[in-house]
Amino acid sequence: MSGRIEPTTKAARNRSLTTKTQRHKGLGRTAGRASRADAAELLSRATGSMPCSDAEYLLMYLLGVRRHELYSGLTVPGRTTGRFRRLVARAKAGKPVQYLTGSAPFLDFDVAVDRRVLIPRPETEELVSRTVARIRSSCKLQAVSCELSAVDFGTGSGCIAIALARAFPGAKVLAVDASKAALAKAAQNVARYGLAGRIRLAQARAPDEPVMNRLRGRLDLLISNPPYVPTSRLARLDRNVRREPKLALDGGPKGANIVAMLLARGPGLLRPGGLLAIEIDSTHEAVVRKLAPAAEIERDFAGRFRYAFLRRC
Ligand SMILES: C[S@@+](CC[C@H](N)C(=O)[O-])C[C@H]1O[C@@H](n2cnc3c(N)ncnc32)[C@H](O)[C@@H]1O
Repeated sequence: MSGRIEPTTKAARNRSLTTKTQRHKGLGRTAGRASRADAAELLSRATGSMPCSDAEYLLMYLLGVRRHELYSGLTVPGRTTGRFRRLVARAKAGKPVQYLTGSAPFLDFDVAVDRRVLIPRPETEELVSRTVARIRSSCKLQAVSCELSAVDFGTGSGCIAIALARAFPGAKVLAVDASKAALAKAAQNVARYGLAGRIRLAQARAPDEPVMNRLRGRLDLLISNPPYVPTSRLARLDRNVRREPKLALDGGPKGANIVAMLLARGPGLLRPGGLLAIEIDSTHEAVVRKLAPAAEIERDFAGRFRYAFLRRC
């Protein structure tokens, strides 16, 4: 799906925006009674003006089918083609498709999303996968059960906290966020997966606030996908990304305010051997190396610096 935070995708996004001619020829046209249509045909007309994956996602949502079924000669009822066209029009006007459907996938589950929370990104799925792999291997080495005590800092929809609780049935997660509105959405997601007994939600803005400080020296994992976009870059983000909460994106002048805070104050919360795992902007390599020379910095699937892992000695 579209909506990456990196600005380099803007040109690609612009290329996919509808032209005036396309709007009048195809899916932008909503007047008149909608008629039945072949799903693949409907999609090929939509993708002239928006990313194919977004159009597929909307149609899969409306029809309750999997992607491959869209291309198996499926006929879309007239009333659904009308709804599809209306959603496409709103997506073309810049509303993220995940806010239109109210749902976003994350690893092997979905979370409810709306404008109060960031739409989870594939890079963050990768942060969780790599973190889980590191913890599993250290659990094996130490021959202890993974009864993890973790903090998810800046939980948003709750996706990271939920993924950890699902991966480690013994895990207890404190999920914090500065935004009360985001915490309300996270609570909805936590309840949906029956995890309220193992994921506690709390409002906090820094690792040394009392709610976290009482875990000082005892945490196995502090994980975060903090806001990390430099303020000056916000205005250049794709317009659909700009619909997401500013608090979830704006990382200060260099984008590193919260990254630096976590590197400075996070390790004190960890037990010896505990892990700090942070998603970072591709420009933050130098900041991380300066503040935490022992951190391992890893690249994402696009080859950009994206993850910092630090073990407490
Ligand atoms: C990039 S979003 C990540 C949301 C979610 N964890 C994810 O990966 O999709 C960052 C989150 O951090 C929260 N946040 C921003 N500043 C914060 C602060 N100082 N303390 C705690 N949370 C903060 C935002 O409200 C937002 O929900």
